[in-house]
Amino acid sequence: MSSNKDTISKTITVALLLCIVCSVLVASSVILLKPVQMQNKTLNLKENILAAAGLLKPGAPKAQIESEFKKVTPRLVDLSTGEYVSADLVEKASAADYDQRKASKDPKFSDSLEGGIDIASIKRRAKYAKVYLVEKDGRLDRIILPVHGYGLWSTLYGFLALEGDGNTIAGLGFYEHAETPGLGGEVDNPRWKALWPGKKVYNLDHSNEPAISLIKGGVDTSRADAIYGVDALSGASLTSRGVTNLLHFWLGEHGFQSYLDRIRKGA
Ligand SMILES: Cc1cc2nc3c(=O)[nH]c(=O)nc-3n(C[C@H](O)[C@H](O)[C@H](O)COP(=O)(O)O)c2cc1C
Repeated sequence: MSSNKDTISKTITVALLLCIVCSVLVASSVILLKPVQMQNKTLNLKENILAAAGLLKPGAPKAQIESEFKKVTPRLVDLSTGEYVSADLVEKASAADYDQRKASKDPKFSDSLEGGIDIASIKRRAKYAKVYLVEKDGRLDRIILPVHGYGLWSTLYGFLALEGDGNTIAGLGFYEHAETPGLGGEVDNPRWKALWPGKKVYNLDHSNEPAISLIKGGVDTSRADAIYGVDALSGASLTSRGVTNLLHFWLGEHGFQSYLDRIRKGA
């Protein structure tokens, strides 16, 4: 038997009220959770910087990440000269406040990459890069460089860590990408990441052009140039090519080449 209460207008009113209540709940949880999300993002970045440099084991507790990160000093580098610059230049109080990813979208703080120079397919590059330095016993021990570039499906964002000599790799890790799990996504595989430490980025007997590359079919360890090669990801040649390209871009003349030259000369 139908009740008098079951009118169309009442049904619509209840549906509308439900929609409003749900929208308010969703909107307030987004607003309330925003600071927590930002904190987690910052913590994740710190963890990835430390992990790339081999200074932290995966899954370390928050307190350990924060205490290890105190040893890391962010500095700003003018990519055209390779010199350190002050945070005033990017209108920030300190290098820590500078967001290189944001700057790379701002025409005031970035350059567009025309034609053949954009081998990493990133379109724009920030004029100033934020590098992270770690000293040990008064000497430069780690130089952690932000790198990014296009793979097959996505832009991969990560950190390349070098030893204090400015040439030996301490580690490479990506903290953001959308490559296929099991294929290009194997960039996150700890076994693949373990192939990087000890490799050299430049063949300095030859030139200061980037030499490090991913090798399809695997590195032939009997070759003298094996020190500049890392096994490509199997079944993921396109992501592998993207990783080689992004490393060549960031270690080349439009990236950190001048900066690393200066480091090696002790300037
Ligand atoms: C659904 C799907 C997802 C794929 N994802 C990737 C990927 O993330 N990275 C990649 O390099 N290749 C990916 N591939 C494979 C590429 O299309 C291409 O076949 C491969 O890069 C060639 O690598 P190989 O020469 O090592 O076999 C994917 C293929 C399919 C069908």
